[in-house]
Amino acid sequence: MQVSDALRSRISTRAFLDRQVDEAAIRGILDTARWAPSGGNLQPWKVHVVTGDARQRVIDAVKSKLESDPFGDENAFPVYPEKLWEPYRSRRFEMGEQMYALLGIPREDKGARLEHLLRNFDFFGAPVGLFFVIEKAMNPNQWAHLGMFMLAVSLAAEEAGLATCMQEAWTRFSGTIGTALGLPETEQVYCGMALGYADPAAPVNQLRSQRADLSAISVFH
Ligand SMILES: Cc1cc2nc3c(=O)[nH]c(=O)nc-3n(C[C@H](O)[C@H](O)[C@H](O)COP(=O)(O)O)c2cc1C
Repeated sequence: MQVSDALRSRISTRAFLDRQVDEAAIRGILDTARWAPSGGNLQPWKVHVVTGDARQRVIDAVKSKLESDPFGDENAFPVYPEKLWEPYRSRRFEMGEQMYALLGIPREDKGARLEHLLRNFDFFGAPVGLFFVIEKAMNPNQWAHLGMFMLAVSLAAEEAGLATCMQEAWTRFSGTIGTALGLPETEQVYCGMALGYADPAAPVNQLRSQRADLSAISVFH
């Protein structure tokens, strides 16, 4: 598979088959992704892989936190700025509308929309969960480098015939997950990722999000 094919075919998969992933395949993906670059070659990332009981432990911990404190947010960095402005606001809105249309959930059905959002917290049924962890003392630069590692993981998974969904949704529970994973105080979970085999019959997996034209994101001087 060419890199450009992997970039164009990777999508956020939000429904997975009930089919296990061999540990060797997971290791192969991470072994490729570790060649992602980072400033100073710090490689400021760690990835925690959860399957089976360990996966369930994280799911249960977050579920019980959700039940006791549904509005809690343990994330030191809110996912989006408080009030998104254009063009970002519209891009986010359009993607959401496209997704809920495929799911057949109308705008006013807040309950069904919330239920779909909550599916984040079982990895959308994926048998493998990844948590990307960084040391709290790192600068914003290193967070960017961690993102490169995450993209490398998702592209290597694509090449291996597996599907992914990056999941910042989990960061609301970064402390709870950190405890479940036994992270030291000095580290924090940035993002989760669901990994598994895509369910080709699920309508939500038909979503093909759009991108701004090259002219809107590039300036040639
Ligand atoms: C860092 C990151 C975090 C994301 N977090 C979530 C998430 O928590 N839940 C979700 O359903 N999608 C999440 N997404 C998926 C984005 O909505 C998606 O990448 C975007 O709409 C583009 O669609 P595509 O990935 O299908 O190309 C995340 C994507 C990235 C890059």
